[in-house]
Amino acid sequence: MATEFLSFVSNLVGAVTVPPLPPAADMPGLPIGEMNSLNPAGPAAQEISRLWDILLWVSVAIGVLVVGGLFAALRRARENERELAAEPLEAPKKGEQAVMWLGANVPALILAVVFGFTVRTLNVLAGPPPREDALTLQVVGHQYWWEFRYLRPGETGEAAVITANELQLPVGQRIRVELTASDVIHSFWVPALAGKMDTIPGQTNEFWIQADKEGLYRGICAEFCGTQHANMHFLARAVPANDFEQWLTAQAADAADVDGDDLAVRGRQLFNQRGCAACHNVRGHTTQNLVNNVGPDLTHFASRETIAAGMRPNTRGHLSGWVLNAQGVKPGNLMPPVNLSGEELDAMLAYLEALR
Ligand code: CUA
Repeated sequence: MATEFLSFVSNLVGAVTVPPLPPAADMPGLPIGEMNSLNPAGPAAQEISRLWDILLWVSVAIGVLVVGGLFAALRRARENERELAAEPLEAPKKGEQAVMWLGANVPALILAVVFGFTVRTLNVLAGPPPREDALTLQVVGHQYWWEFRYLRPGETGEAAVITANELQLPVGQRIRVELTASDVIHSFWVPALAGKMDTIPGQTNEFWIQADKEGLYRGICAEFCGTQHANMHFLARAVPANDFEQWLTAQAADAADVDGDDLAVRGRQLFNQRGCAACHNVRGHTTQNLVNNVGPDLTHFASRETIAAGMRPNTRGHLSGWVLNAQGVKPGNLMPPVNLSGEELDAMLAYLEALR
């Protein structure tokens, strides 16, 4: 009952503070992941959820006291109706002075206590800092997708692992997160794991994230950034440390060799000829090394579960629609329509599906 009530309140609050999930979230086959901040799966989210519980129950207690007091006063007033009506105005009596004193000081005390809890939460979220040898996740917000780069401990300069819209986390490890943006301000938020942190062009913000439970979590952009702000999602998968290492190693490799597959080779040619490679990097296949990626890095595209920043499952049908006319799926994103014949589309899809 209590959890049902809490989730009702959370949905109510969520409806106001979180962009509503677009219809695509109900799409068959689309992995959604946990995104309830009241069902925390990491220490930061746990702390926030605890603060929320305190604020909620303090508010409920005060509400009950105030409304209860009001009803008691009304009842008494009705009993003394005649007497009250006849009473002339006069200076506050001693009892009334006490009411005024309490009215000023009790709220001040409650606010001070709540402030104390809030400061405690902020303190926990701010530290302790990740260990010096912690893994670093660099987040770059783009209109309307997320670029993720991983730096292993001690690694500096250009990251070996660059991916988009999907990230993995080793369970139980605190990861340093460095955030920036390429265009406007966005905000990185995985509700079940941590609080929000803005990504700001020209500035690097830092915080940390940790998942304590294996699972799939959904992240969203929490700062209005343009027409597709509500469709700027990502997935965060928390896996055991060994699986994470394997994933990281696989992501660091160059794109798969497609030479044995004629259709994919043709697709690779088209990818370079039709301008795809001007915005999308496929490490080992494209000639440009894009410094400030305009579009997501596609080196291991086929290993991703979603396309269009978490909005569609990565299936042949959705991918065809996206490649041919991305504007029809997410109006206002930077990807222009690509004009391909049926045979060319087949080749392009074969190529993209080969990028495991
Ligand atoms: Cu990016 Cu809102």
